[in-house]
Amino acid sequence: MKILGIETSCDETAAALVENGNKVLSSSVASSEEIHKKYGGIIPEKAAREQLKSIIPVIKETLLKTDLSLSENGGKIDAIAVTVGPGLIGSLLVGVETGKTLAYLWNKPIIPVNHLIAHFYGNFIGKNLKGVFPAIGLIVSGGHTELILVKSHSQFQWLGGTRDDAAGEAFDKTARLLGLGYPGGPAISKHAAKIKKTNESLRLPRPMINKDNLDFSFSGLKTAVLRKVRQLKSEGRLNSQTVNQLSHQIEQSITDVLVKKTLKATEEHKVKSILIGGGVAANQKLREKLKSAVKNQLPNTKLFIPDNKYCTDNAVVIASVAYFDYSPIDWREIKPNPGLEITDKLG
Ligand code: KG4
Ligand code: ZN
Repeated sequence: MKILGIETSCDETAAALVENGNKVLSSSVASSEEIHKKYGGIIPEKAAREQLKSIIPVIKETLLKTDLSLSENGGKIDAIAVTVGPGLIGSLLVGVETGKTLAYLWNKPIIPVNHLIAHFYGNFIGKNLKGVFPAIGLIVSGGHTELILVKSHSQFQWLGGTRDDAAGEAFDKTARLLGLGYPGGPAISKHAAKIKKTNESLRLPRPMINKDNLDFSFSGLKTAVLRKVRQLKSEGRLNSQTVNQLSHQIEQSITDVLVKKTLKATEEHKVKSILIGGGVAANQKLREKLKSAVKNQLPNTKLFIPDNKYCTDNAVVIASVAYFDYSPIDWREIKPNPGLEITDKLG
C-alpha cells in the first residue's frame, strides 16, 4: 500500500510517499526556518503564508520523484494521510485543506494523523520491528516533552510530561539568552561540543530529576541561565568561553533529566523497548547517554532511535503511522485540531 503523507503542523511543509509503512519512495521538506531565524523564533502567520506558497510545489516534487504527477489523479496512490494536530492552526489548515481537496478530487481514502504519535514512526522506517510493544515512548519536540506507554499502534497511555516549557523550547529559549539564534538545539550543541573541561562554577540545576513522578519542568532552567548571563555580563565575563560553558551545562542538564525519567518509566512499566522521537531526539548527547544508560542499567530493553532526518518534522512518519494504524474517515469530517493530545480520538 502506497500512502501520500502531508505535514504542515509547524514551520515545515512536507510531503512523502511511503510503501507499506516503512519503505520511503520519496520525501520532500521545505522549511521557512531562514525567515524565522531573523526573528529568533517562529512567527505563526509567516509560517502559514509560506506553507500556502509551498504546499503544492512540495507535493508535486514528491510525486515527480516517483514518476507520478498531480494530474494523474493520484493513480498509484492508495490513500492520503495528513497531520490534523497538534500544531499551529494556520499551518494545520493548509495541510488539512490540501489533503482533503486531493482526497475528494482523486477519490482516495484520507487518514487523520496525530503528529505526536507520528514522531515515533521514525523508528520504523526501513525496519521490521516485530515484538516492539509494549514500549515507552519519549517525545521531545519544540512544543512537547511527553512520556507515553505505547501498548500497540493504536493504544497509548500518557504517563507524564512537562509542566511548563518543553525540552526543545528550553533549548530554543536559552539559546536566545546566549545570543545563539534559532533553532536553539543544534546551536547549543555546536557550542557545547567545544568544551573539554567543565567549569563547575557555572553548573545549572537538573529540574525535577529526583522527583518521584514522570513529569518535567524546564522553565526554572531558563531562569537559572538568565541569572548566570546577567551575572557574567555585570562581571564583564560574558564571552565565547563562558557561552560555550553555559551551552554545555544546558545540554547536560536537559539530557540528564530526559534520560533519568525515561529509564524510570521503562523500569516501572516493564516494557520491551524504548522509542524516542521529535526534534530533540536528533541531539547527539541525548542519543549517546540513552544508549549507554540502557546498556548498563536495562540491558534487556531494546532502544530505538530514528535517523536524524526522521527526528525533525517530515511527512514520512505521517504516511508511516497511517499505514500501521489505518483508520480513514470521510473527507468532510477531517479538520485541524491545534490542541490535540496523545489519547484524543481523531476525526
Ligand atoms: O519535532 P520538531 O522538529 O518540531 C516540533 O514538532 O516542534 O522539533 C523542533 C525542536 C526545536 O526546539 C529544536 O531546537 C529542537 O527540536 N532540536 C534539537 C536538535 N535539533 C532540533 N534540540 C537539540 N539538539 C538537536 N540536535
Ligand atoms: Zn514535530
